[in-house]
Order: sequence, then structure tokens, then C-alpha cells
Amino acid sequence: MYQLKNDRYLRALQCLPVDYTPVWMMRQAGRYLPEYRDLRAKAGDFMTMCQTPDLACEVTLQPLKRFDLDAAIIFSDILTIPDAMGLGLYFETGEGPKFKQSIQCLSDIHQLPIPDPEQSLRYVMDAIRLTKKELDGTVPLIGFSGSPWTLATYMIEGGSSKAFTKIKKMLYSDPKALHLLLEKLANSVAIYLNAQIEAGAQSIMIFDTWGGVLSHQSYQTFSLDYMKLILSQLKQGKKSQNITSYVPVTLFTKGGGLWLENIINSGCDAIGVDWTVDLSNVPQKGQIAVQGNLDPSVLYADKQIIEANVDAVLSEFGYHNGHVFNLGHGIHQDIPLEHVQYLIDAVHRQSKRFHHD
Ligand code: CP3
Repeated sequence: MYQLKNDRYLRALQCLPVDYTPVWMMRQAGRYLPEYRDLRAKAGDFMTMCQTPDLACEVTLQPLKRFDLDAAIIFSDILTIPDAMGLGLYFETGEGPKFKQSIQCLSDIHQLPIPDPEQSLRYVMDAIRLTKKELDGTVPLIGFSGSPWTLATYMIEGGSSKAFTKIKKMLYSDPKALHLLLEKLANSVAIYLNAQIEAGAQSIMIFDTWGGVLSHQSYQTFSLDYMKLILSQLKQGKKSQNITSYVPVTLFTKGGGLWLENIINSGCDAIGVDWTVDLSNVPQKGQIAVQGNLDPSVLYADKQIIEANVDAVLSEFGYHNGHVFNLGHGIHQDIPLEHVQYLIDAVHRQSKRFHHD
């Protein structure tokens, strides 16, 4: 039987008791770490690191060597799927991700293949297999994907966007085409995530980074319904005495604070929330896990401010099971390392008072 030395993160996701609140950080492996910047300079570029399992594994483990984190997240990107569909992902310094080809019309959508994860995304599966072995049961490994809506924004806009005019134009003027794309993406994501589970991922996170730009009517039909379609296909296993026999799923819609009830009713195990949400108002605490939600910019401030903001987040969540401490979004590139160390220690130390046997 597979056993973990630190299973607090998986226990919290199943709303089981823990002695302190587990913590990990979105983008915990990234540019704020000097060893990441060194390795990236050696590798040449970001995609080479993602596509070389030895390097992806090494980068995944970097933050865990420094900090007492309660989970690892596989080093990859949400845009691996559109890249495997043939759109040609590349990164331009200072401008974020871009695609050589974008999706413009129905025939572009018809031509998109559903990637076979053990073929065109094999590098992700190999990285997961290797990292799982290297972790050697210390902490659980998180697998992830983008939500269909969020992937579609990059595919239609051709990269990052501020106003999302191209995809919104399609949403209102040719909704059938967009639904076809979202359905194709949902099926691709489900196959991809099942392969990640098969390769060893012990929890799954779906990043719906741009769900919050939708109108409240469209959020349900164009984002949440497709995350539900993924959930219905995932091979999560069964809950049992052995905590690792079940793979919990976290849905994170950035800017989704007004729709918590709907997201909770999707059938996910945990809901990720950004810093705009007051954790005292999250419904069904103790039944559904909550991940969040320190404003990442708090980490610019000194230790007293970090301490006070950790206290605020923990106190708002209160005396329930099912809290995974995280930032409300990814860590910024220029955060001092000692502040990260301080945050993790503060969460572990302060949270003990919220947990009793
Ligand atoms: O959390 C982790 O440590 C795991 C690794 C991870 C990365 N991207 C590494 C990365 C994860 C989970 C992601 C997800 C991701 N990628 C999302 C969803 C999460 C979120 O932040 O909302 C999105 C929207 C992307 C798309 C993407 N990839 C963007 C917007 C960027 C940043 C571009 C830039 O220049 O800032 C990337 C690149 C990227 N992905 C980096 C990292 C560490 C930076 C690459 C580098 O320059 O070294």
C-alpha cells in the first residue's frame, strides 16, 4: 500500500482532521527562485524545461528543498494542450505566451486533433513519473490543466489578452462554434488529466484563470459546464481508509467569488478562491474544501504584516476541516525568499490553534 509521510494536503482536501493547515503556493517553482533562474539560463528557455523530464522534475523539487511545503505541483504549463493540438506555443520575453496559429473559425476548430497524452504530451507524463519517484512519498504531487474556457481564450486571442474581444465576439455571434471548441477541449483535458492520474498525480487542479471575465449568465454555460464535463470523466478512484486511493479535484476560477455556490455544486472536492473572497462567507465549509487566499502582494511587506494577514485568512476560515492555505494567485517574481519562508512557518505555527483532535 502506498503511504505518504505528509498527507495533510490530501486530508484537508477530503475535509478530514489535520494537526495544522497545509500550505503550497501557486507558481511555487518559478522566477522568484535564483536556482530556477540559473537552470532556465542553462536550459535556454521555458519550454525546453517543460519538455525535458529531468529538468521539469528538478524544477518541481526546487521549492521543496528550500521550504517546508505540504505539496508539490508538477512543473509544466496549461498551454501544453493547445501546443499539442498544433498551434505552436512560444514565449516572447516580457509579452507572455503566444501561438503561431490562432483559432479563427469553425473549420479551424474542426481540424483540431484530440492529443494522445502518451504521444504528444508524453514529456508531461514522464516528468510526473520521474518526480513521483524522486519525491519518494514525502508530499503529494499535484497534476493540473487549464479549464476549457481559459485555454480557449489563449487559442482564440493568439496569446494573452486584456479585453478578450475576439473570444467574446465569437461567444455572442457564433456561440455554436465556441461550444464545439469547448467540448473538444473538455474531452482533451479529461483524457490528459486521466493520464496524469495514471502516471502518478495524487490531486488535480483546474486553473480557470479567465473565468472571471465572463458575464454571470455566460460563466455557467461557457466555463463551469465544461469543467463539470471534465469532472464527470475523471477516474478519481474511491475514498477509503487509504487516503491516497482517491484523487481530489480543485476548481479555481479567478474572479469567481460571486459564483461560489454554483462552483461548489459542480461536484468538485475543493474550490480555489482569490483574495477578493472573504473566507468567512464561503458556503458549506467542512463539507467542501477551500484553497486560498492570501493576496500575493502581502509577500512584499515585512514579517509583521505577513503574520497579521496569515492570521486574518486563518481566522476567516475558522475552526472547520478542509482548508488548504495558498495565495489567491501566483507568487510574484520579485518576492524576497525570506518572506516566503516566513509565510510558510507562520501558517504552520498559527494554524495549530484552529485544529483539535
Ligand atoms: O505552480 C507551479 O509552480 C507549476 C507550474 C505552472 C506554470 N504555469 C509555470 C510557468 C503552472 C501551474 C502554470 C499554469 C499557468 N500557465 C496558468 C494558470 C495559472 C495562473 O497563473 O493563472 C496560466 C494562465 C499559464 C499561461 C502562462 N504561462 C503565462 C501567463 C505565463 C507567464 C508569462 C510571463 O512571461 O510571465 C506562462 C509561463 C510560465 N509558466 C512561467 C512559469 C514558471 C514563467 C516562465 C519563465 O519565464 O521562466
